[in-house]
Amino acid sequence: LLVNASQGSTKKMPENLFGVSFEEINNAGAGGLWAELVSNRGFEAGGLHTPSMIEPWSIIGDYSLVRVVTDFSSCFKRNPVALRMEVLCDSNACPAGGVGVYNPGYWGMNIEQGKTYKLVLYIRSLNSINVTVSLTNSTGGQTLATANIIATDVSNWTKVEIALEAKATNYNSRLELKTNRKGIIWFDQVSLMPLDTYKGHGFRNDLFKMVADLKPGFIRFPGGSYAEGKSLINAYWWKDTMGPWEERPGHMNDVWAYWTDDGLGYFEFLQLAEDLDASPIWVFNSGFSQEQAVNPSNIKPLVQDALDGIEFARGDPNSTWGSLRADMGHPEPFNLNHVAIGNQDCWRGDYHANYLKFYAAIKKAYPDINVISNCDGSNTKLDHPAELYDYHLYVNAKTMFSMAHKFDLTSRIGPKAFESEYAVTWDDGRLGNLLAALAEAGFLMGIEKNCDVVDMASNAPLFLNANTPSYKGFRPDAIVFDSYQTYGTPSYWMQQFFSMSNGATLLDSTLQTSSSDSLMASAIWFQNPADQQNYLRVKVVNYGSNIVNLKITFEGLDPGLIDYSKSSKTVLSSTNVKDENSFQNPTKVSPVKSLLKKSKNDIGVTLSPNSLSSF
Ligand code: AHR
Repeated sequence: LLVNASQGSTKKMPENLFGVSFEEINNAGAGGLWAELVSNRGFEAGGLHTPSMIEPWSIIGDYSLVRVVTDFSSCFKRNPVALRMEVLCDSNACPAGGVGVYNPGYWGMNIEQGKTYKLVLYIRSLNSINVTVSLTNSTGGQTLATANIIATDVSNWTKVEIALEAKATNYNSRLELKTNRKGIIWFDQVSLMPLDTYKGHGFRNDLFKMVADLKPGFIRFPGGSYAEGKSLINAYWWKDTMGPWEERPGHMNDVWAYWTDDGLGYFEFLQLAEDLDASPIWVFNSGFSQEQAVNPSNIKPLVQDALDGIEFARGDPNSTWGSLRADMGHPEPFNLNHVAIGNQDCWRGDYHANYLKFYAAIKKAYPDINVISNCDGSNTKLDHPAELYDYHLYVNAKTMFSMAHKFDLTSRIGPKAFESEYAVTWDDGRLGNLLAALAEAGFLMGIEKNCDVVDMASNAPLFLNANTPSYKGFRPDAIVFDSYQTYGTPSYWMQQFFSMSNGATLLDSTLQTSSSDSLMASAIWFQNPADQQNYLRVKVVNYGSNIVNLKITFEGLDPGLIDYSKSSKTVLSSTNVKDENSFQNPTKVSPVKSLLKKSKNDIGVTLSPNSLSSF
């Protein structure tokens, strides 16, 4: 491998070349990164007809003693459904501990000893009340924390806030609301959040860290198909995710078939981007759901909605929508510089007509915003104005590796590519295996080499709650988790090899070998912010099943400037290309670092079969 660092052989790489694509899919947010522990906290998941199903809430006690239905008695106008619980037994006639309802969260709540959980609920009754709130194990047999709500007059809806400190740990806990007093009690907007979230911003710490460790240059949100919805009414409408959480209506994520209460709303996505030090990339609905369309003659309100969303993110705190952002605790503008008009909508009949209306209005109000089209400009020039075009790639491993050359022949003039979703899909491994990660590494090296025409790239989907039924979700994913644990798939670890590429300098690298069909390599210079030192990183993927001995030779480098004592080698490999990670063996396929033995002006390395190495 010849690496040429001479002037004229290098390229400055985009600051945000590699990032992440967050979609509300696989319970990535609701039941995932967003730390809310109660599922269906407002009882709205059953829809706007009553009585409706209240899943996953269930009753504690016999149906002859406690009856629950939903009705429209909520004090919140935009989410009118509340739970009406009628208790038919009194004191000793009730079972010990009382009767009531429980919520198991998203497949069990993670309650940890010594940690505090903030319970907020709204309650109403025409009688005096004595309600026990408890965190228990999954059967209710073990109590982890408990408190009583005692009140003589809650005839008007009353907000109750309680801090519950857990005295034991259980990863599969539930929240119980019980009483042994006859009468009717209404509950609404029952929330349980750990106090310990990232900066108190509501993000589950371990999952936040997994994303932060990728050092993403950008975060695309909220989808994917989630932004479109199956029907327009269930698309992602940012204004419905605004304001106090109790007042958010929530909506059915009908593409991926689960309810989201929109605790992770537009504001929280922007906050997440800021916390990750990543550029937010907002995908808004272009007037198409998967099954419905807004005619271009009626698109004006949606165009205004997009303009309002941009104003919310970056407008003056005195502007109409900027002031709402300020009211929500963030007077400073968010750094929103990219918006995508729709997701995978180019082929839909009126996309072009709708797109042009959005584009013209956005550029008029915000000339500096980069607008992303859904149409592919990699082979032929786009027939409409755009700063970037979106490109998605879900293929098998063999095709993915060959796609390293996808952008070699793309015109160097015109909008750049946003490779916002790429992944080797499940036919090469249900949960993401080594082979998939190696193929994706080859593809990303192709992107590095074409970083003059590809501006940004992200793997998708980012998250999977392992409890999400496979028929509802999308696999494989980069990060897998359940209520309390998480691991990265090989693809996740592969992405870490590219985490220093943002803003780095790409060096020319040429493989001079007959086995180059199964090898890809790239080389960069970067400055590590941790120690302000400059580093050279050479990455090589050996997609073949033979050992390769490779000599890396440098040109245009003063060998005296290289401190070989700091050289290291990191390898991602395993005994079998089909190997996957799991909760039982989370790092089976993960990078292994060792010292690199140096020779003089070149480095001799051995590449294991099916491996990704960096030097
Ligand atoms: O990433 C999963 C899905 O794949 C996205 O929702 C959609 O954009 C694509 O089809």
